[in-house]
Amino acid sequence: MNISGVEIRGALLAPMAGYTDAGFRAVCSLFGAGAVCTEMVSAKGLVYDSEKTKDLLFTTPYERASCAQIFGNDPYFIKAACEDEIMDKFALIDINMGCPVPKIVKNGEGSALLENPSLAQEVVKAAVSTGRRITVKCRTGFYSSDNCADFVKRMQDAGAVAITVHGRTREQYYMGKADYAPIKEAVEKVSIPVIANGDIKDKKGAEHALEYTGASAVAIGRGALGNPGVFAQIAGVDEVMNKQEAIGLHMRVLLEIYPEKKVVNDMKKHFAFYTKGMRGGKELKLKAFAATSVKDLEEIAKYI
Ligand SMILES: Cc1cc2nc3c(=O)[nH]c(=O)nc-3n(C[C@H](O)[C@H](O)[C@H](O)COP(=O)(O)O)c2cc1C
Repeated sequence: MNISGVEIRGALLAPMAGYTDAGFRAVCSLFGAGAVCTEMVSAKGLVYDSEKTKDLLFTTPYERASCAQIFGNDPYFIKAACEDEIMDKFALIDINMGCPVPKIVKNGEGSALLENPSLAQEVVKAAVSTGRRITVKCRTGFYSSDNCADFVKRMQDAGAVAITVHGRTREQYYMGKADYAPIKEAVEKVSIPVIANGDIKDKKGAEHALEYTGASAVAIGRGALGNPGVFAQIAGVDEVMNKQEAIGLHMRVLLEIYPEKKVVNDMKKHFAFYTKGMRGGKELKLKAFAATSVKDLEEIAKYI
């Protein structure tokens, strides 16, 4: 897939708040993810120079095709965020139009933009006017998927160079099965690359989604948690490291950004996924949850 000059091979790592930090993005890139995305950051927060927002946009040279995801519904702040020099290092800037969380929706942001396609277009146009490569990530709709293809077309018309569609409506949150039919309709209606997303956990799932929808690529979220090797599987390449090494790299990257206490806390969520389903996993998870240092976690990772 080529997104406006950016060549992307393999599955993409979907943005996940609290998970797709610079450490995990480094790991997934090395395993073969074609592009990796930060979690959503507030356009306003970025403009107001929030330190926390900048930390979320920390990157390492390991990242392939890095994408920064921003959210907001005010074209002024969206434009200003895209103009920020911190964005120079990102190949793509993605605008979030899928977040279902009430706090975001009630501000008219995230998936609320699905209900206001004119404003969504203004937001994209403002971002595109900065000369950056702008992509959108959306759901199939707010209440229903009926207007999915139209919405995607409107994003293309506003200047988006690719769009990721999560096969659920806002009302569905993460329930039920992802529906690829509206994604297929969107693919048929636009000429920009469409990236299919939702419930893809392995090579078979990726192949099915690609075949069914005709999408240019797939994005994987939860299926990569505790299993970054899924990108190697899909790319058909050898895994460059084992899970212990992946965890070690993940923590080393986080230590460049955060104090050890935060690194340990952030890593606990990942340990919950790495230990899931493995023999003795429950005990390892409890040990990880009781850890107080990176050294403790390194010791536990030896058994993963
Ligand atoms: C914990 C969590 C955090 C998420 N955060 C974001 C986010 O910041 N931005 C976004 O566009 N989507 C976010 N998503 C949605 C995912 O990117 C993806 O669309 C969704 O999980 C469906 O794909 P999957 O089945 O491969 O996980 C999040 C999902 C999860 C589970």
